[in-house]
Order: sequence, then structure tokens, then C-alpha cells
Amino acid sequence: MPEVLRGHAPAKVNLVLEVLSRREDGYHELDTIFQELQLADGVELRLDGPAGIQVDGPFAAGTPADASNLAWRAALALGGRLGISIGRLGLRLTKHIPAAAGLGGGASDAAAVLRLLATAWPGTSEALLAEIAAALGSDEVFFLSGGTARGTGRGECVAPLPALPPHDVVLFVSPLSIERKTGQMFAALDRLALDPGGIAARFAANPPARIRSAEVYNAFERVAFELFPGLAALREELEARAGEPVHLAGAGPTLFWIGPPGTGATIAEAVEGAPCMVIPTRTAGPR
Ligand code: C5P
Repeated sequence: MPEVLRGHAPAKVNLVLEVLSRREDGYHELDTIFQELQLADGVELRLDGPAGIQVDGPFAAGTPADASNLAWRAALALGGRLGISIGRLGLRLTKHIPAAAGLGGGASDAAAVLRLLATAWPGTSEALLAEIAAALGSDEVFFLSGGTARGTGRGECVAPLPALPPHDVVLFVSPLSIERKTGQMFAALDRLALDPGGIAARFAANPPARIRSAEVYNAFERVAFELFPGLAALREELEARAGEPVHLAGAGPTLFWIGPPGTGATIAEAVEGAPCMVIPTRTAGPR
């Protein structure tokens, strides 16, 4: 029997995303509140080959099925540190999270691979996983534990928060794209005054039991609607149809609505006909 490890890799949204300052190393100091969603990719690992990576599922497009894949690089990095070859490792990703959409799908796949390999490879510690995750990307550490959490530093200093009680979330996914999205968004923000901070700190000091779409804050909204041609018109149309504000997920271009459980279906119905894909989901608790 081949040994197969299976897991899932959830998406996230940022309920708060403040960009505080530009650092010497070119990164930016953030203060953000991450929230795990139920929408998730499937992750399957075979430890005895055939070696390679396979990507399938409804959102396979846009995810590299080669050695440049972040989840593959995560396996390579962990194997390298433990002296374990990945020469017989087979990775299969079933993509339900749209790629490069601001939902953290690639980072989450990589964190799920680290978690799965940690169960099979002796010598793995939490500190090693966090170190490898932080080197792979700024959002990566959050996905090791998920739930509701505050991220500071580049986003890689993650402190868990009490789980936000269940909320409905509706994602509005558009095919809009720009080159080097995240870098461009930060560069555009640098031309404006950055955030004074305080919103994520207040959330963490007094975690709310309920959050409404109107309370979400994402600094990237100050530049995203100019950088993504067509996104401002999409937001306008969604807000007119839904009668509720929608917000940018991470660095976009996905927009989302969040509200009380049981009300997401009404929002999804109200926006029918808008030029985007509508994905209803929910918040998820800690794993
Ligand atoms: O961490 P990650 O590799 O996802 O970041 C992609 C790019 O986004 C970085 O090269 C950097 O330009 C920008 N970034 C930043 N500040 C952060 C996170 C990312 O400037 N906190």
C-alpha cells in the first residue's frame, strides 16, 4: 500500500490590513487580522512516488505544476533541512481557491504540505516549520495554524486570537490581473501617506463577536481600484446589487462580503448577473 497523506488548505481574507511603514529591507510593516475560510484546496502527498506535481480542480489554471510551485518548494526546503530526499514525493493539489486572487491559496497549499510532511518526517519542530514558512512568504506562517489571528512585522509574526464566531462570506472572483501584483500595490501605497495604525490593535484587544462588511479595513483599497482596470466598476455594481459594502481580499482582485450566518445566500442571489464568479463560503475556526 502506498503511503498517502491527505489534508486541506483553506483560503483566508484579511478583516483588517494596515500598512504602517516601509522597512530598510524593502518590505512593509503590517498590522493585519487574518481570518481562515471554509473554502479550501485538497492536498495529497505520496511518499513513495511517482515523483512530481499534479494540479487539478476547478481553479487549476494559474497554479504552476512544476518545481516553481510554492508547495513543492516548501517540501524541498523542509526535506533539505532534515536531510530527506523528495525524489519519490508525489504532490497533488485540487484547486478550489482561485490563484493570484488575494485569498492566499498558494501560501496555504505550501503550509498544508509542511504540516502533512511534519507528521511523516521525524525531527520536524514547530520552530523549524515557522522558519521555513516565513522564508517562503509573508502570509505563510498564518496558514500553519489558521483560525483568526493577528499578523505583524511582514505579516509573519502571527499571534492567534479567539475564533471569530461563524460568519457567512461571499467571494466575488474576477479574472482581472496585473503583473507583479503585490509588489505594485505596495509601491503605489508608498506614494501615499501610510496608515497610522490602531485598527488591528483594537480588534486584537477586544475581539468582536460580530463583524459586518462595513467594518472591514484594507489599506490596498486606496490603490487597487486604480491599478486593476475594471475593478472599481465591479465594486460599484456589486454594492448597488447587494445594498452592502464589499471589500478587497488581501492584495486583490477578489472582493468579498462578510455578515451574519444565514444571510450570505441572499447576497449571492442579489448579485446574480454581475461580471464575476460568486463563491459563497463561511469563516472557519482554528484547526
Ligand atoms: O512575502 P511575499 O513574498 O509574499 O511578498 C511579495 C512582495 O510583496 C515582496 O517582494 C514585497 O515587495 C512585498 N511585500 C512588502 N511587505 C510585506 C509583504 C510583502 O513590501 N509585508
